[in-house]
Amino acid sequence: MQNWEEKIQNVSSLDELEKVRIELFGKKGYFAAEFEKLKNLPNEEKPKVAKELNVAKNRLQGLLQARKDELLAQAIEEQLKNEKIDVSLYGYRASKGALHPVKQTLDQIIEYFLSLNYAIETGPLIEEDFYNFEALNLPKHHPARDMQDTFYFADGTLLRTHTSPVQIRTMQKQKPPIRMISPGAVFRRDFDLTHTPMFHQVEGLVVDEAGKVSFANLKFILQDFLHYMFGDVKVRFRPSFFPFTEPSAEVDISCIFCQGEGCRVCSHTGWLEVLGCGMVDPNVFEAVGYENVSGYAFGLGVERFAMLLYRIGDLRSLFEGDLRLLEQFK
Ligand code: DAH
Repeated sequence: MQNWEEKIQNVSSLDELEKVRIELFGKKGYFAAEFEKLKNLPNEEKPKVAKELNVAKNRLQGLLQARKDELLAQAIEEQLKNEKIDVSLYGYRASKGALHPVKQTLDQIIEYFLSLNYAIETGPLIEEDFYNFEALNLPKHHPARDMQDTFYFADGTLLRTHTSPVQIRTMQKQKPPIRMISPGAVFRRDFDLTHTPMFHQVEGLVVDEAGKVSFANLKFILQDFLHYMFGDVKVRFRPSFFPFTEPSAEVDISCIFCQGEGCRVCSHTGWLEVLGCGMVDPNVFEAVGYENVSGYAFGLGVERFAMLLYRIGDLRSLFEGDLRLLEQFK
């Protein structure tokens, strides 16, 4: 017995202890063998020896459990020591993300028109000639097609050069009245300080029965919108040309950098061009089979708005993913 007691005391791991337990109490262990031997003893000796064996068994079981508790406590102690953390050490700093300035600008624009119950419509980026040009009163060989340096695919489809094709798609699937904007990416073969091959536009279109939609309505909405975006600026409408509107206008705001005094950004004119617009050309209505309606449309470049709102000098920096720029928009 002495031997077993020492053995239990000397084990240094729970695994070893388990081995000793099996040696002692397992089916082929020490006590199983000893109890087996009882049957060879004379009857009168059996109770005495059996009693001694049971006492020894209980005692060793107790020792085993005690040693197990000890080893478990040691293991926990060890674990606590290993997992201790030094709260005074520097950790990783979690850096916060932010929406891209173009996205923030787009959200602001959408918010304005949603508040006036304009629907949001979208269309494909790969367009057919019909939607991007033909139906917008830009027949083949029309000189105004040169205004838009188009990416063509071999099959004659193209990357849409503006969001205006969504006007056509919306009018085709829906009867008037229509009140919609269409935000999205557009593509042109152009790359310099103020042009990138991909940028974003928001198109607007309102159509109702003839006589219900006027240039005065258009003027009011755009003035209100530009005040919402840029605050206290002057707004002016300048006659212009777009194939899909007649009459057409370009809209300027007083320069937000020099308050109209004249500076480098506004080329010393005091004005910044921000929008194109006009009354929908009758040829456009004809292309979608609309009769006896009137409507206005407008289009704007989101990056241009973002550059003005956040005073960003180079358009290309909006697409470089430079964290030093992006971190300023948290
Ligand atoms: N589609 C024009 C462009 O990309 C922008 C535009 C101008 C849209 C006038 C319009 C509009 O709806 O009326 O340059």
